Amino acid sequence: MRLTETALATTIDHPTRNSDNKPDYDSPLNREAFGENFKWGVATAAYQIEGAVNEDGRTDCVWDVFARKKGKIRNGDHARQACDFYHRYETDLEIAKELGFEQFRFSISWSRVMPDGHGLVNEAGIDFYNRVIDKCLALGMEPWITLYHWDLPQALEKSGGWKNRRIVEWFADYTAVCARAFGDRVKHWIVLNEPMAVAGLGYTTGEHAPGHTGIHNFLPVVHHLALSQAEGGRTLRRLLPDARIGNAVSCSYVYPHSQSAADVRAARRADALMNRLFIEPALGMGYPKDAFPFLSNIKRFMREGDRERLKFDFDFWGLQNYFSVVVQHSYLAPVMWLKEVPATLRNVPTTGLGWEVNPAGMYEILKQFSRYKGVRELLITENGAAFKDKLKEGQVADPGRQSYYQDYLAAVLKAKNEGINITGYFAWTLLDNFEWAHGYSARFGLVYVDFQTQGRTVKESGKWFAGFLKNAEL
Ligand code: NOJ
Repeated sequence: MRLTETALATTIDHPTRNSDNKPDYDSPLNREAFGENFKWGVATAAYQIEGAVNEDGRTDCVWDVFARKKGKIRNGDHARQACDFYHRYETDLEIAKELGFEQFRFSISWSRVMPDGHGLVNEAGIDFYNRVIDKCLALGMEPWITLYHWDLPQALEKSGGWKNRRIVEWFADYTAVCARAFGDRVKHWIVLNEPMAVAGLGYTTGEHAPGHTGIHNFLPVVHHLALSQAEGGRTLRRLLPDARIGNAVSCSYVYPHSQSAADVRAARRADALMNRLFIEPALGMGYPKDAFPFLSNIKRFMREGDRERLKFDFDFWGLQNYFSVVVQHSYLAPVMWLKEVPATLRNVPTTGLGWEVNPAGMYEILKQFSRYKGVRELLITENGAAFKDKLKEGQVADPGRQSYYQDYLAAVLKAKNEGINITGYFAWTLLDNFEWAHGYSARFGLVYVDFQTQGRTVKESGKWFAGFLKNAEL
């Protein structure tokens, strides 16, 4: 999910780009080149695919309420049925397996397993995820759980949601319930998904649920998310000492529009927000105030001992990279003092959402994150592209998505070959799904979904991916 001009992300030593936006690489692109142990997966999220929002004891999450408000979701779409994964998980998991994926990432709907957000546990909700996990294992796919992919129980929103510091305890309780229920079979855990999107889009610009606006929300929400990611990590470690525990952050390489001092400083501010804000406190470095002094106001929300509490030694960091950005200093944008120069005005390749296709940016961001001393292992936990796909005579021709995957994978391989410890890649995503405020208008799937009939059709890019994973000649 991208951030808008209001909340955007780097380093000054920005590389020059090739005219085609691709990093130079000479290795052939095939599965073997990534090594035998490299993990290949596909990523999903509960709210975007499950549907069944009122079934078996699930209560509203903030997105159910947000989608009911006029004008919040494109075309008035909602996720009441979404991809109906709740009822179709078996065949959908079989499709993922047929495509050759060996890792399946999904998230738990908090209000499905804890309808009040804390306290009472809904066994029917737990049973659903047990079925998903067991089916993955039966197919020989490793289940990866994301604990929080944006669907906060509405019951907790009523008590202030991420603005209320008590959420750190609520989140730890919920984490413990999931660890006890699923930890016997699930070895890979991701605590938060893209916390920056929650703070920026959910509580500052209001483009996402719960739709709060105002910069005054930003810092307390950031702090409570950052405390929760560490607390979630500690809870998992205590209950599941052998689990692999990670956190998934959005990241975008930031280029200054020009080399002027003002643009370079603007790029550093954007980088602090987009790339550094959640990893650095976990690594014990504090918030990146050096590049963005506004962040020093976060001390108003800090209590004694918080600097320690913010730390957690994650086994891996999941990077979610889709595009890079170019930013420019601007007097018109108070607080950030910058604006994004949209890809559409720069004559560069873009996806259907206007996001810049820049595989070189993937390579740069991997290098940037690999420079942190405390980072043990990196994975790409999401990467993919939305295009306006059409189903014609049983086929979906999507050459743009196929070349996007090829070029981004080549960039990952280049980074890996240069010694960066990157151990896996998850495509976003298996099925076309509910793309948040874009509703169903943005199709990211390797598999096309007809939302009238719930029919599934593997796109040409999906067939390409399957061939790649089977290491066939492509
Ligand atoms: C990031 C989010 O985690 C995911 O939910 C979203 O659909 C993709 N990016 C694409 O925007």
